[in-house]
Amino acid sequence: MGTGSTGNEGVRGSDAGDELLSRSDAAEIVGRVRSIVRTHSERFEQSLPLIASENLLSPYAKELLISDFHSRYAEGLPGERYYEGNEQVDEVERICLDLARRLFRCSFADVRPISGTVANLAVLKALAEPGDLVGTSRLADGAHISSASFGAFGLRGVRPVYYAWDPERMTIDVGRTREILRAVRPKLCLFGLSLFLFPFPLDELAPTLEEIGARGWYDAAHVLGLIAGGVFQDPLHTGCEVLSASTHKTLPGPQHGLLLAESRDPEVYRKLQSGAFPGVTSNHHLNAMAALAVSFAETLAFGRAYARQTVANAKALAQALHERGFDVLAERLGFTASHTIAVRVAREGGGEAVARRLADAGIITNKNLIPGDTSPKHPQGIRLGTPELTRVGMREREMAEIAELFDDLLHRGRAVDEVRSRVRALKQRFTRLEYCFGAGEAAYRYYDLLGRDPA
Ligand SMILES: Cc1ncc(COP(=O)(O)O)c(C=O)c1O
Repeated sequence: MGTGSTGNEGVRGSDAGDELLSRSDAAEIVGRVRSIVRTHSERFEQSLPLIASENLLSPYAKELLISDFHSRYAEGLPGERYYEGNEQVDEVERICLDLARRLFRCSFADVRPISGTVANLAVLKALAEPGDLVGTSRLADGAHISSASFGAFGLRGVRPVYYAWDPERMTIDVGRTREILRAVRPKLCLFGLSLFLFPFPLDELAPTLEEIGARGWYDAAHVLGLIAGGVFQDPLHTGCEVLSASTHKTLPGPQHGLLLAESRDPEVYRKLQSGAFPGVTSNHHLNAMAALAVSFAETLAFGRAYARQTVANAKALAQALHERGFDVLAERLGFTASHTIAVRVAREGGGEAVARRLADAGIITNKNLIPGDTSPKHPQGIRLGTPELTRVGMREREMAEIAELFDDLLHRGRAVDEVRSRVRALKQRFTRLEYCFGAGEAAYRYYDLLGRDPA
């Protein structure tokens, strides 16, 4: 598609009959899309993806994405569906729910939200009314757009109450936040970030939530796999009643959402269920739900080792970048306790230019707001995450090599092409999945079902 095309023009060919597109033109488009996606897969296989919110799916989970579950509907809960034919779906969903409760040691799970944002909407639908006050962090302090007036908060019509932030420690300022909470008394308090370096001080804030009668809600989209692996805080047992999440970031599952809860009030469970359906979903993408069951089982079997290495790699990358003169945030606290690190790259040209130059060399990152930034379009930071490179077997030694590539590209003026070929050489040794069944399988394989393009 050339620049300037909307993609909506359509093509009419001579063999179209009364169809809108000729078969030969349609076949050409199908072939083109396949080829673009293959190119993408090859590109990622040869790159160093350091996006904190991305991961790779195991072969057994991937297989279920193209199963017949993809074609079906199952509204409601297992055993209480609106359609016939759901017996096997019910069986798998019960397994999935059971594994979720086991993995996170809680009483309630719902696997119907189809993404993290949808899970957040379900919580807002269930536990807040339009006009309610809901505590959260500011976008500039690392919160997700769900908390914004133009995101889920705005859609539900709730009003944010912002916590005080400690930019040195990259987490909430407990003393000042307690004062805010006591003065404003929000109904619900959300703890979650997209730039999530350190655990929230939930132990310290829980008594204040209790005192003002606010429910604690944790958005674990980023850190779900770390919680599952026992290397991050355990929010459902530290002051939060409800947890929402994506299932494809540090938890290496399919693109999906999740609700968990541990509450003294069974009404909470009922409200969350109706928030999920019919609140914010109809069908819940049964193929992804089945894949999630596999990912939960694999996380129960492999997740501790994976989570430990993911955090160890983030710490190692941060330390190595720091030693090479990069301004990695939160040095005094050891840079990170999660899968993510934040680097101030004002000296190197700013977040946008640096992320672009890295991408040209095959190192995929994103520009990111960091404390002190005023423009979301021109932030001074980049965000780096280790979930994907850990999944293909990289360890501390490779993190040091990556820091050297950053240094050569961004400080020593080495040519993009030279760095790109070193990126490829390094990545070539790490293209196979680990920490799952079917380990050793090609991580970036394009599954060509028919072995040919349409004629
Ligand atoms: C903290 C947080 N919550 C929610 C989401 C949304 O998740 P999803 O992309 O699955 O909708 C994200 C995504 O990056 C996130 O960082």
